[in-house]
Amino acid sequence: MSITISEFGKVSTGIAKLYVMKNQAGMTAAVSDMGAVLVNLYVPDKDGNMRDVVLGYDEPSSYEEINSIYLGSTIGRNGNRIGGARFTLNGAEYTLDQNDGRNNLHSGVNGYEKRMWKVADMDDSDTPSVTFELESPHMDQGYPGNATVKVTYALTADNKLSIHYDAVSDQDTIFNMTNHSYFNLNGAASGTILDHQVQILADKFTWADEESIPTGELVDVEGTPMDFREFHAIGERIEEDYQALKFGGGYDHNYVVNPGRETKTVARMKSPESGILMEVTSDLPGMQLYTGNFLEGDKVGKNGCRYGKRTGCCFETQFHPDAINHPEFEQPVCKAGEHYLTTTTYGFRVE
Ligand code: GLA
Repeated sequence: MSITISEFGKVSTGIAKLYVMKNQAGMTAAVSDMGAVLVNLYVPDKDGNMRDVVLGYDEPSSYEEINSIYLGSTIGRNGNRIGGARFTLNGAEYTLDQNDGRNNLHSGVNGYEKRMWKVADMDDSDTPSVTFELESPHMDQGYPGNATVKVTYALTADNKLSIHYDAVSDQDTIFNMTNHSYFNLNGAASGTILDHQVQILADKFTWADEESIPTGELVDVEGTPMDFREFHAIGERIEEDYQALKFGGGYDHNYVVNPGRETKTVARMKSPESGILMEVTSDLPGMQLYTGNFLEGDKVGKNGCRYGKRTGCCFETQFHPDAINHPEFEQPVCKAGEHYLTTTTYGFRVE
């Protein structure tokens, strides 16, 4: 219904702006050209009060300088880990930053989430939207091909935040982008998400080693604390003596949500306290459930809040981690000149 543009603050390359989209229901989503990040997401709770359900910062410089925990981040070119920080494509070997032990995480030290994007388009209609665009040159982060990457945030009249990615490169390359927002359906500064109930529509997850690199094995969730086919509180089984949970320090695993790559609901989360239910749809094969196990309260977030362990939960839709080194997984390779097109939505209602 409307888009309000304001100055967000200073970053190293100039002034970052904040674009606040609002729909008829009063839901708002604030995004910035600094990193194409999602900064605020105000959603009505069961009493009709608006709650900001994503973790973040008050200054754009924090997104640029201290956001090693990826609050609200647009991750690219590749989300999650690439084992050994190397891969082979069309017979050529490529080397990436080792920024997570000997592995590559979220494309290394020069992630898209730390860059200034330009605004390519804005639509101030009933479904307000903002499109950010980034030029990512050949060998940027170690990936081949000059790429043009676009991310469109749109807010629908029925309270869905849609995130659409459109990327194209002049050489075959990897595109596996995701949004790393941490959701807390009681509000960004309201404690842990352990009482939140989660449903993930997946029978299997990718087994990973102690470095969180998939072994290639797809393990049945049946009979394990990984089974979220029915709603379970996050805290119910997170401390169970189960190898995968020990390796991840909690939930930090990739679910096989959508092998057929349809557009469908892949997960839901609800909070009994606020009554807010979030529904995630995607057209990608995997989704990382990450329960904020590495949050340490060491960064100052919105309103001076320090986000401690498990105070937010991420639903990162993507190809499976390290897919490029696992030919048995669906490949995140995009051919030269073809468009990588994918959409994830986070929809909200009260229950
Ligand atoms: C992803 C990973 C986690 C962690 C976070 C960032 O979700 O799977 O292990 O690295 O990013 O802190």
